Amino acid sequence: MGKIIVSAPGKLILSGEHSVVYGHPALLTAVDRRCFVEVEKRDKSKIVIDDNYFGTGEFSIRKLQQFAKKAQEAWREFDETNNISKLSFVKEDNFGLVKIAVATVFEKTIKRDGGLVLKIKSDIPIGSGMGSSAALSVAIIGTLLRLTTDMFDKKEINRLAFEVEKKIHGKPSGGDNTIVIHGGLLVFQKNKGFEFADLKKDAGVNFLVIQTGRPVESTGEMVSAVRQKIQSVSRRTHYKFQKIIQRMGRVTEKFIRIFKKADFSQLKQLILENEKLLEQLGVVSGRTKKLIKELENLGVAAKICGAGGIKENSGVVLALVDHKDDIDQLLAKREIENFKIKINQRGVKLEKGQS
Ligand code: MEV
Repeated sequence: MGKIIVSAPGKLILSGEHSVVYGHPALLTAVDRRCFVEVEKRDKSKIVIDDNYFGTGEFSIRKLQQFAKKAQEAWREFDETNNISKLSFVKEDNFGLVKIAVATVFEKTIKRDGGLVLKIKSDIPIGSGMGSSAALSVAIIGTLLRLTTDMFDKKEINRLAFEVEKKIHGKPSGGDNTIVIHGGLLVFQKNKGFEFADLKKDAGVNFLVIQTGRPVESTGEMVSAVRQKIQSVSRRTHYKFQKIIQRMGRVTEKFIRIFKKADFSQLKQLILENEKLLEQLGVVSGRTKKLIKELENLGVAAKICGAGGIKENSGVVLALVDHKDDIDQLLAKREIENFKIKINQRGVKLEKGQS
């Protein structure tokens, strides 16, 4: 078998980030930004990683396995203490995710002769709420399972990708890897699985992604910060945040209904409500709140997507746009990156590598 190429999409959470961690449903969609991973065997024993964002690196399989083992132990400590800083070293290593993903597959299957060249090309914004890590984990595991077992079993890819996601994000809900695998538009609920929310082909809604910048905090840190509030010893704090999560669950259920019916007359109102709840939960930075307020003043509803960020940036913001002119002017004046996005796109795909 020669080269194997697998692609996986980025994702957006239309509604339900954070509340999904507590068992409420989330509405997720695959988008038209993708991560491509190409893998090929090489004679020399080392594994070469060539990433269009992080550059190149060369590692022995043993080194990758040691790193993955350290991450596994750190995850166990985190699980006992809820101290997410135990996993900081994974996030701080540019190749941390790749090392763990490769080692996760090798642990099961590989014969340790020869090495690999792994090329990564992605146009999904990194660490900004668009599922860059889930897409990369899924694409790496997809190529390596194909290489070593000749299979392309989505269930197994999803299972292993979730294991990798845990070392990156601590206790993720599993929604990101699930949407990246299956694509389309789906309702995900922790411990219950997922169902497709059938969407009429032409939904006629225009979404714009606005990049406020990569947050200082990781997804794991944001999820942990919310958990601390919900598990607060102060009953007042505990009830306040539990209520916000419950309201988020109800807003998401309304989102799901309107997408299933393909009647988007209430969508703008729901996005506004959703953003307010995310702000009350404390996952949106002052700077991002200000930008969203300015968008609202121009008649545009917008919400952060994903874990958010509070110190500076909050990752990507999803805006529902009718007339782009005014907001174009605002974003151009501030030199804020933005791009149109298509929802309901294809999930993981074996692009090359049929035996
Ligand atoms: C991250 O993309 C979304 C969160 O809800 C965390 C998760 O679902 O694992 C914040």
